[in-house]
Amino acid sequence: MIGGDGIGPEVIAEALKVVAAAGVAIETVDYDLGAGRYARTGEVLPESVLGELRGTEAILLGAVGPPIGSTAVPPGVIERGLLLRLRFELDLYINLRPFNGVPGSIAPDADFVVVRENTEGPYAGEGGALRRGTPFEVATQGSVNTRHGVERCIRYAFELAERRARGHVTLVHKTNVLTYAGDLWQRAFDSVALEHPGVATAYNHVDAACIFVVENSARYDVVVTDNLFGDILADLAGAVTGGIGLAASANLNPARTGPSLFEPVHGSAHDIAGTGRANPLAAIRSAAMMLEHLGQADAAGRVTRAVLELQTEMAGSSEPWSTAGIGDAIARRL
Ligand code: IPM
Ligand code: MN
Repeated sequence: MIGGDGIGPEVIAEALKVVAAAGVAIETVDYDLGAGRYARTGEVLPESVLGELRGTEAILLGAVGPPIGSTAVPPGVIERGLLLRLRFELDLYINLRPFNGVPGSIAPDADFVVVRENTEGPYAGEGGALRRGTPFEVATQGSVNTRHGVERCIRYAFELAERRARGHVTLVHKTNVLTYAGDLWQRAFDSVALEHPGVATAYNHVDAACIFVVENSARYDVVVTDNLFGDILADLAGAVTGGIGLAASANLNPARTGPSLFEPVHGSAHDIAGTGRANPLAAIRSAAMMLEHLGQADAAGRVTRAVLELQTEMAGSSEPWSTAGIGDAIARRL
């Protein structure tokens, strides 16, 4: 467990409450990581801690990051040093983000999953700066796309689509402008599609996909895309399907060479920390994705259904739901 910063520990407490209520006994170890630890000790992710995390079966993370405007933690230290480092070191190459629209949201009919490549693209860290601080400074930030990385991500998307009722995969990219990366993605997509004749396919440019996610999200079942497009599209999808407080994610190592990591998409929201107003449903649904990964499909299904039911109920209610109240309501449904 990495509760982390801000509302992180609060939403993780509810997720653990729900796992217990689902009847699954898990042994947990708490790790103090995040902006708080960095501010106190200067440590981001000590090697010994990374080594211990490698030996676990799953990591459940609340949220990490300093309050907005904090000067104690420079931008990127926690993001690159902790979150991205875990994704890269543990080879969590799939970032899975499911969306189900709630009544009254902009996209109430949405029922789709974003499969985001999670170890490459512009996140890989390729690039550099020259003549920094001068009028002639140059900054480049390349997008890294390997056939290996792209193909395993696309293959995951097709295998997932095969297990879903609709069996449809959309590739989202910008092949008309990013011709090198786009060409690799498109060819990898076309060749994996040949191995899955039962799965229907489509392609959308990422800018058009932003329109469709808002106006006609029912067209999507499984969306597969690169790291940065997936980051942005998933936040948009969260916003139009009921709010980022509902958006769950699994950072998966499908090859199971180590643990996978489960976390709500939202951040540490220091502004509401301690007020009991954080919505734990994203963390709870992330915990359900963890249960699924751990082979507890029955419990995972029950928790997910309870989350979907409660988020629908909450959308139609004016009750002031509290963090613990939401966790209790889910636990009661189980
Ligand atoms: C997310 C976050 C991270 C990302 C940041 C905090 C590094 O926005 O999980 O979507 O960009 O992937
Ligand atoms: Mn993001």
